[in-house]
Amino acid sequence: MEPLALYIHWPFCRAKCPYCDFNSHVRERIPQGRFAAALRRELAWEAARLGRRPLVSIFFGGGTPSLMEPETVAALIADARRQFEPLPDLEITLEANPTSVEAARLAEFRAAGVERLSLGVQSLHDEALRMLGRQHSAAQATAALELARVLFPRVSFDLIYARPGQTVAAWREELRRALALAPDHLSLYQLTIEPGTAFEAMHRRGALRLPDEDTAAALYGATGEEAARAGLLAYEVSNYARPGAESRHNLVYWRYGDYAGIGPGAHGRITLEKQRLATRRHRAPEPWADLVERQGHGSAGEQALGPPEQAREMLLMGLRLAEGIDEARFRARTGLPLADAVDPATLRRAIAAGYLEHEAGALRALPEGRLRLDALLAALIL
Ligand SMILES: C[S@@+](CC[C@H](N)C(=O)[O-])C[C@H]1O[C@@H](n2cnc3c(N)ncnc32)[C@H](O)[C@@H]1O
Ligand code: SF4
Repeated sequence: MEPLALYIHWPFCRAKCPYCDFNSHVRERIPQGRFAAALRRELAWEAARLGRRPLVSIFFGGGTPSLMEPETVAALIADARRQFEPLPDLEITLEANPTSVEAARLAEFRAAGVERLSLGVQSLHDEALRMLGRQHSAAQATAALELARVLFPRVSFDLIYARPGQTVAAWREELRRALALAPDHLSLYQLTIEPGTAFEAMHRRGALRLPDEDTAAALYGATGEEAARAGLLAYEVSNYARPGAESRHNLVYWRYGDYAGIGPGAHGRITLEKQRLATRRHRAPEPWADLVERQGHGSAGEQALGPPEQAREMLLMGLRLAEGIDEARFRARTGLPLADAVDPATLRRAIAAGYLEHEAGALRALPEGRLRLDALLAALIL
């Protein structure tokens, strides 16, 4: 049976960060009991139709899952372990914000069964954290990180760079300090302006200026160099890990494997009766919970994906990975040979320019290609 990764979305945050367009909401009081029950109910519904598949990973994402009650996390893990067939190296990740309140509960999340913590540090400079609208200081973030390293076998953290006014030298210095905290996995994201965010409004007024394209490219290059010097390789566009410490959950997405998405706004790609389905849940938290209470799930529709759509999606995901796309797996997964899914002239030009490599049964984006991946994919995919 097709192995499965399980994503569980917690849609609440303490405050909305001005750059963020994730499905996250602020409530005066989080309806903990109601959302715990609804998540468990929707998981049971999904598990009933999926059957006892081998379970690769569970990922609590958000929003801010560290605002969940540890009992809820424990109950969802126990449900998933019972309803699926957990693999011996099952990876269980929880995203956490490094405020002091949440740090105080890290031990409880560990006791609940979480073994990998992904901490939203974002910056090691207080001034940048204020600019990003964060609720914690750099000192709180490093304290949370140190505690996490004692408690959890695996720890990763996120930083946002290419911030307004950031120079390559300043970023190298910040990143070196981050790498000295000895993570074996880092997610390093360039700040992007997302539609509908407070930053978008500021950007439109000219009140927020991002580094120009050349500086952004230099920042990206410096990121790869500094990470590699510390032994962390760019296994995906924005993700760096010591070999063996890659996020198993995210690898399922990028390799276009099966994943189930539970909770408001969650997406999934699952194989059911030989059909590949795209699933999505209602985004708004309370209407999603109403639906689950009424019918057992909060589905906002499902769509069967044919070979061309699957080929397109697998190219979009797989070329983000340094390992690229295995041609035999591509054909088995999508039903199309790789050669029929890409524009041959663009492929030839991109190989000649050193953006892509097509060797040993795999198609990969080289570092220069990953730097301009969006434009490359737009031209390449039929
Ligand atoms: C769901 S959030 C993380 C979890 C947690 N709520 C937090 O904020 O610490 C995932 C990550 O995406 C990144 N992110 C979100 N919006 C971004 C943007 N506009 N540009 C760059 N990175 C962004 C942040 O690094 C964030 O930690
Ligand atoms: S970055 Fe994290 S804490 Fe901030 S709004 Fe988004 S999900 Fe919530």
